[in-house]
Amino acid sequence: MTHLLSVADLGRDGIDEVLRVADAFAEVARRPVRKVPTLRGKAIATLFFEESTRTRLSFETAAKRLSADVLSFAAASSSLKKGESLRDTVETIEAMGIDALVVRHSAAGVPQQVARWVRSSKVVNAGDGWHEHPTQALLDCFTVRQVRAEQGRDPRFEGLQVLVVGDVRHSRVARSQVLAYSLLGAEVTLAAPASLLPPSLEGWPVRVAEDLDGALVEADVVSLLRLQAERGSGAFVPSLREYTAGWGLTSRRAALLAPTTIVTHPGPMVRGVEIAGDVADLPQAVVTRQVTNGVAVRMAVLFLLLGAPGGAEGLGKEADG
Ligand code: NCD
Repeated sequence: MTHLLSVADLGRDGIDEVLRVADAFAEVARRPVRKVPTLRGKAIATLFFEESTRTRLSFETAAKRLSADVLSFAAASSSLKKGESLRDTVETIEAMGIDALVVRHSAAGVPQQVARWVRSSKVVNAGDGWHEHPTQALLDCFTVRQVRAEQGRDPRFEGLQVLVVGDVRHSRVARSQVLAYSLLGAEVTLAAPASLLPPSLEGWPVRVAEDLDGALVEADVVSLLRLQAERGSGAFVPSLREYTAGWGLTSRRAALLAPTTIVTHPGPMVRGVEIAGDVADLPQAVVTRQVTNGVAVRMAVLFLLLGAPGGAEGLGKEADG
C-alpha cells in the first residue's frame, strides 16, 4: 500500500488484510499495557482542516499504541491563517521528517493532492468532502464481522443485506461503505428521499429501496447517516421533523428489525433526527463498539503503510515506553 486514499486502493484482498491485521491489534487493546513497539521511531502527523472528535482521536490513539510519535496540526491556529498555502503547509510538515500524514479536509480530493505533493510520506484519507472516508467503512465492516461472529452467524459478507439510510448525497461515509461492503460481497441498498440521493447512481453497485419499512425488515445491517447540515442538507428536506417521520430510525421502525440486525452509525449522532434517542441505546446499535474497533483498524492501516522493523513479530511484544 502506498497511500490509503480510497477503499478502491485496497480492493477485496486489501480489505481482508486490514481486517485480519486489525484482529491482532484489537487483542492489544485488551492487554493491561495497550501498547506495542511496532512503529517506534516513526512520526505520524494528523492534519485536520475540518472538525472531528472521534476520527482524529482514534488515529492519534492508534499511532500512540504503535509507539509512533504523533504531531497534531490544528488548522485554526496555524500559519494558514497568515496566508500560507496548503501545499507549503504540507511540504513544511513533511520536511520535519514525517512518515505519514493523516488528512481530513472539507474539499473532496485534498488527500489525493497531498499525496502528489509529498516526497516519501504515506497519506491516509481521514475524510475528504463528500468523497470518501475509507477507514470509517473499514471499521464498520470489521464491527459487523465481529458482531456476527459473536452472534454465532456466518461472519462472511456474501449475500449480506446492508441498508444505508439517510443523506447519501453528501456522505463520504456512504461512498466508502458502498465500495467496501460490495467488494466484500454484500448487497447494498440505499434508502433516502430522492433529494438526498446522488444525482446519478450510474456505476454504483446498489439498489434503491422503494419503501423504508420493508427494507428494514430485510436488512442484516442498517447503516444510519447524519444529515450533513454543513454541506447544505437543510435545503434538501422540508423540515427536520418531516425527515425524521419519513426516514428516521424511530422506535416504531426499530421494532421492525430482526433481533440480530446490526445498527451502525459513524457518529456524530443527532439523536431525535436520524435515530431516536432510545434506539441509539439498544444493544443492537453498535456505535461505541465501532469507536473501539476504529482504533484497531487504524492501527492496522498505519502498520500496513509504514511497516515494522521487526515485521509482524512486533505485534506479540509489549512496548517498554
Ligand atoms: C463522519 C464524517 O466526518 O464523515 N464522522 C466520522 O468521521 N466518524 C460522519 C458525519 O460527520 O456525519
